[in-house]
Amino acid sequence: MGCNNSRQGETHNPNTNTQKPRLQKKPEFQNGCKSLLSKYLTDDVFQQLNGVSDKFGYSLAELINSGVVNQNSSIGVYAGSPDSYSTFAPLLNQIIQEYHGYDPADLHKSDWDVSKCNFEPLDDKYCMSTRIRFARNLADFPLGTKITKEQRRQVESLAKEAFQKFEGELLGTYHSLANMDKQTQKQLIEEHYLFKEGDKYLEAAGLNRDWPDGRGIFINHSKTFLIWVNEEDQFRVISMQKGGDIKAVFGRLSNAHTIINKVAKFAYNDHLGAISTCPTNIGTGLRASIHVKLPLLSKDMETFEKIAEKNHVQIRGIHGEHSESEGGIFDISNKRRIGFSEVELVHDMFNGVKEMIEKEKELEKHAIQS
Ligand code: ADP
Ligand code: ARG
Repeated sequence: MGCNNSRQGETHNPNTNTQKPRLQKKPEFQNGCKSLLSKYLTDDVFQQLNGVSDKFGYSLAELINSGVVNQNSSIGVYAGSPDSYSTFAPLLNQIIQEYHGYDPADLHKSDWDVSKCNFEPLDDKYCMSTRIRFARNLADFPLGTKITKEQRRQVESLAKEAFQKFEGELLGTYHSLANMDKQTQKQLIEEHYLFKEGDKYLEAAGLNRDWPDGRGIFINHSKTFLIWVNEEDQFRVISMQKGGDIKAVFGRLSNAHTIINKVAKFAYNDHLGAISTCPTNIGTGLRASIHVKLPLLSKDMETFEKIAEKNHVQIRGIHGEHSESEGGIFDISNKRRIGFSEVELVHDMFNGVKEMIEKEKELEKHAIQS
């Protein structure tokens, strides 16, 4: 994945999206639209940024299209290149500040030291499986929103070359989505290994262009280490296994992180850390989650959400973002991805899940007594 050759992707892109560089007027947001885009795209910010493009020719119109088309977005923007974050800072800084609590003067922190993970074991009766991933994109290329078909193929080729260098536990096979039969694809999605297809937020941001070309998944032999290629981000590096052994999952990912960083030059700066397509994933790009069984607590959404908020964790359904729960099982993960190290963010998730399980046990006792 060594993108040290500056010829690759560094040149100015032809405008591959259909968006016009300048909007006639500020887009309207419906009553009840709660996106951070609708909150922070004030008249002033709009005037300042309309007509501006980043180094790869990505315009404000493109940046905000997903949130304009999908008025139920929670965020509503996707960057076009690492440069979008400075070009559109008057809008993106405010979104980042509200979502992560991270200020424009803050510096990114990183710490992958597994020995600092002091987790007591969580009860496997409640913890179905643990997954931790980090998002990365190559330096010198535009992000998936603005990448050309040819550049996307280059990213995939560089990735395939790098995967051949994996050893030991990380050894595995790359499966291109274009060559995958529908049944295998369906099964990999159902088993929580593979990304879904046809996300409307990604679609409106230009992230599904040329699908399935250039997309794929690397899977190690024991299906505990995976890498998504060219989905929302160019790379989602994932460690996962059944049960609640967070330390084992984090340890595997930490090891992979060291190896991958040696062979790839990722888009990164000292303020934003790793650059991602969506501002929710900047910094560590790390989302640590456990599928937890909470049938009683989830009947009381107010208490459930209060515990989540207190511990800075998010509640998702069992098939990932924008999905529903099944059988009282929820995906609980750290909400923030920057301003805290990887070790600290995994602790956010641990603390949230621990408190939720304690509450569930308390509710079980009450249910038996009454
Ligand atoms: P990401 O933030 O990595 O894009 P998504 O919410 O899109 O994650 O979920 C991607 C897939 O990973 C989905 O199939 C989801 O069910 C699965 N997943 C997430 N957390 C876990 C977990 N702890 N155990 C098993 N699968 C998980
Ligand atoms: N764009 C979507 C929204 O604003 C998703 C945001 C966060 N999730 C993500 N996968 N980037 O609601």
